Amino acid sequence: MCGIIGYVGVKDAVPIIIEGLKKLEYRGYDSAGIAVYRDDGFFDVVKQKGRLAALEGRLANHPTQGFMGIGHTRWATHGEPSDANSHPHVGNRGKIAVVHNGIIENYKQLKERLEAKGVCFASQTDSEVIAQLAEYYYKGDIMETVVKVANRLEGSYALGVMCVDEPATLIAVKKDNPLIIGVSKHGNFIASDVPAVLRHTNQVHYLDDKEIAVLKMDSVQFFNMDQEPLQKPLERVTWSLDDAEKGGYPHFMLKEIMEQPKVLRDTIQSAINGGKNKALIDRLDVAAFDKIVITACGSAYNAGFVAKYILETLCGFPSIEVELASEFRYRDAVINGKTLVIVISQSGETADTIAAMREAKSKGAVTLSIVNVVGSTIAKESDFCLFTAAGPEIAVATTKAFSTQLALLYMLAIRFAVRLGKMPQATERDLVEEVASLPDKVEAILGQIDAIQKFASTCVGYKSIFFIGRNIDYAIALEGSLKLKEISYIHSEAYAGGELKHGTISLIEEDTLVVAISNCKRLHGKIMSNAEQVISRGAKVLLIGNHSEATPDERLSTILLPEVHELFSPSLSVIALQLFSYYVAANKGLDIDKPRNLAKSVTVE
Ligand code: AGP
Repeated sequence: MCGIIGYVGVKDAVPIIIEGLKKLEYRGYDSAGIAVYRDDGFFDVVKQKGRLAALEGRLANHPTQGFMGIGHTRWATHGEPSDANSHPHVGNRGKIAVVHNGIIENYKQLKERLEAKGVCFASQTDSEVIAQLAEYYYKGDIMETVVKVANRLEGSYALGVMCVDEPATLIAVKKDNPLIIGVSKHGNFIASDVPAVLRHTNQVHYLDDKEIAVLKMDSVQFFNMDQEPLQKPLERVTWSLDDAEKGGYPHFMLKEIMEQPKVLRDTIQSAINGGKNKALIDRLDVAAFDKIVITACGSAYNAGFVAKYILETLCGFPSIEVELASEFRYRDAVINGKTLVIVISQSGETADTIAAMREAKSKGAVTLSIVNVVGSTIAKESDFCLFTAAGPEIAVATTKAFSTQLALLYMLAIRFAVRLGKMPQATERDLVEEVASLPDKVEAILGQIDAIQKFASTCVGYKSIFFIGRNIDYAIALEGSLKLKEISYIHSEAYAGGELKHGTISLIEEDTLVVAISNCKRLHGKIMSNAEQVISRGAKVLLIGNHSEATPDERLSTILLPEVHELFSPSLSVIALQLFSYYVAANKGLDIDKPRNLAKSVTVE
């Protein structure tokens, strides 16, 4: 959701910024722009609605260069996608240029006051108020100005700021939105995310809320809001540039699906003896809690929903709730110091999930996060953090991060069961072995890619596709449905099989596909009878599961999954579901990695 990149150094900033913006495309955007500090002491600002290719076209007709610049991909919140609403925004006097990620909640009041003083606004955005306010306050010290502006802003922001009067100084500040500072031999960077700077450096500082970074060509300094200097550690990113590139695949999503055996192995290893996550899982005294609440958004919520079944079955924990973070944050949930709140987030920056975590902490709950991005807000603010080893996930539709979240949740549930005295060590060993067998079984499903692709190619014409399952298969049906709708734009819903007859079955007609998931042996008969009910009303069924006895015919197709313990079967079902969605969308020729209206990291409410 909006991407920021800025550079000050000895090289030409323009290609560096454009390349950095390309690495941030996955975040979702509808317009882009760049401001460069020219040698003659002016800014060149080029902004364009649409894709980065359009901005590059504009730059080809309006070439520019300079040693310092800021760039931005905008995901519209206030004001339509347009050239004028794109960032960077520059103040009336052309002195200060700003890129902003986030939402300024009090922008109307600030705007009215500035307009009353004669300031003219060129856009409908909340962000422009930052540039105008900065020019209004500027008295010769850009850092002091940024502090003054930040103190007036309500809402969330990550800012990159340049001033024509201070030619080699790039300022960054943030609150509730990510910003990293990259340090390289030829110059320094600000960016929304690590992939934007990886070609130049793997040395980064993670900026915390209300911290200011002052970047020059050969130095980076940090200050608090009282302008006192701060020391911040320089951290080494372990992701390589290859991790953040497509590596010959047509889409990041397919590459990330195919990476799952490896990242699952790495993640499971991290939770086995000697692994970093293992040490932390062992430290958690689950017996100290009388309630577990899992909160997250989207797919991460679905991972939490799967975990509920597992925690219940393995640990017999008395109270386990799973709640959407966007709801939890506004509920008056009964939680206290005896509640463990598990927060799941790939990015670690989802605004609703952060708010839910903070709400839980304010009530005294202990927070345990499962996060993919090191240095992210949730990773830093939660009491305990387990890191998934998924590597950078670029496609908006999550695949490998989801799978690694499940893997850590399995390991957590197994350990909790032992700690609670519900599981003998021999069973623990068997179950850990089952989890450790998942990467090979995932590989076996990836080996069926051609058959899944072939079936998916027959599904592009469906107007609606339903997903059904029972028990843990229902939990993973939710993820299958979300995956399909976000990238294929086909209407889709997931239902517990038993709910069909309570309403949904009225939607079943000739042109409907029902994907039935069945890995729970004791419920196989029930889900097959649901399948028969919809087939007799004209639907076709795709059965995904480990039941070899189902015989395919012209109304029933099957994807057979390897045998695995029922509780861990979501990790196998989801691979077939991801491939199915991917190939439906690919056959429709859609922009799979950047689906319309969606952003990778939802940093606004
Ligand atoms: C998944 O494919 C989605 N793009 C989305 O639902 C995502 O899982 C959700 O926005 C939560 O993101 P997070 O894991 O970064 O918090």
